[in-house]
Amino acid sequence: MSNRTWLITGAAGFIGSNFVRLALAENWCDKVVAADLLTYAGNLENLEGLLGKDDRLVFERVDVADATAMRALVANHAPDMVFHLAAESHVDRSIEDPTPFIRTNVMGTQVVLDAARRAGVRRFVHVSTDEVYGALSLDSTERFHERLPLAPNSPYAASKAGSDFLVLAAYHTHGQEVVITRCSNNYGPYQFPEKLLPLMISNALENKELPVYGDGLYVRDWIHVHDHCRGIRAAAEGGRTGEAYNIGADNERRNIDLVKTLLRMLDRPETLIKYVRDRPGHDRRYAIDSSKLHAETGWKPRVKFEDGLKSTIDWYLGNRGWLARIKSGEFMRYYEKMYAGR
Ligand code: NAD
Ligand code: TYD
Repeated sequence: MSNRTWLITGAAGFIGSNFVRLALAENWCDKVVAADLLTYAGNLENLEGLLGKDDRLVFERVDVADATAMRALVANHAPDMVFHLAAESHVDRSIEDPTPFIRTNVMGTQVVLDAARRAGVRRFVHVSTDEVYGALSLDSTERFHERLPLAPNSPYAASKAGSDFLVLAAYHTHGQEVVITRCSNNYGPYQFPEKLLPLMISNALENKELPVYGDGLYVRDWIHVHDHCRGIRAAAEGGRTGEAYNIGADNERRNIDLVKTLLRMLDRPETLIKYVRDRPGHDRRYAIDSSKLHAETGWKPRVKFEDGLKSTIDWYLGNRGWLARIKSGEFMRYYEKMYAGR
């Protein structure tokens, strides 16, 4: 019987925990090793109901930039595939201080790559972002495709682009089996409330102002996190080594329109909207062409945007304790620093 142990880094974060949940619920593999440092963004509550209950899941607290620890962990569990999701993930934080982004996203990726190669892991799946392509303009209909040169603008995007290059270098230099996925903006359950959607939902529920950056006419291309996770799996199992695959669901929305839709769905007034100082270097538009993944693996998104938004709002309404516990800690200090007087 073949080894179907998957090592998933960043497994206590938003996408990582959704990936673990789907992988176990749908028997994508036999065993999951969930690795995470539990930074401010990592939360074991995201794996509640599974940890200590499903014996196919083990959790390892580890820093992906710690080479000794990572080497021991990979050797010990001997996974068939590594899914590398651990990262510092928030653009605004990268503008405040890029250092942890370089350490985790660049150094950490090299460490996990090396550990996987030494242990003979069959395939390394690197979960990257469409932000490595830079920005598109509002007056074009162009979308990101995999043949574009990388042109990242924020420290976050630059650190992810750096990690993509290191993954490709491992393929070219060592013949290491690698696949890269580049996805657009995700939404869904368990997203940390620093990101647009959960932040706006959470503020609206508290009747607090909704801080819209700049003119609000920035465009993001939204995908439900479950569709992203299924896309990662499709690329891992059906993608060609050394290749990158875009993942997206063709849901371009202007920020201001999305915020107004959320307010309507939550039955809150538009007077809660407050235009605030823009993000420096704010990328105008993201739009992603995922036809390559579709053509090569048959993957396509299943969740209709309006349905996904509704179920996501319902999830946050039903999990106010989860939100409240996050917002009782470091998050409030962050919020004050980023938004007070903005
Ligand atoms: P997240 O911030 O919610 O989760 C990141 C996780 O990584 C956290 O659990 C954190 O504790 C862990 N982590 C951070 N530094 C670590 C370290 N040094 N060692 C071990 N673990 C560490 O982020 P997310 O939104 O779930 O994103 C996951 C991955 O997907 C990232 O690589 C991100 O670049 C990529 N991505 C995200 C989106 C999006 O819309 N959220 C879109 C495309 C790609
Ligand atoms: P975000 O969720 O941070 O994702 P990314 O910057 O990686 O795309 O932001 C999504 C969009 O929402 C982006 O254009 C910035 C904007 N935004 C606001 O207008 N207000 C906010 O408070 C936040 C967090 C984001």
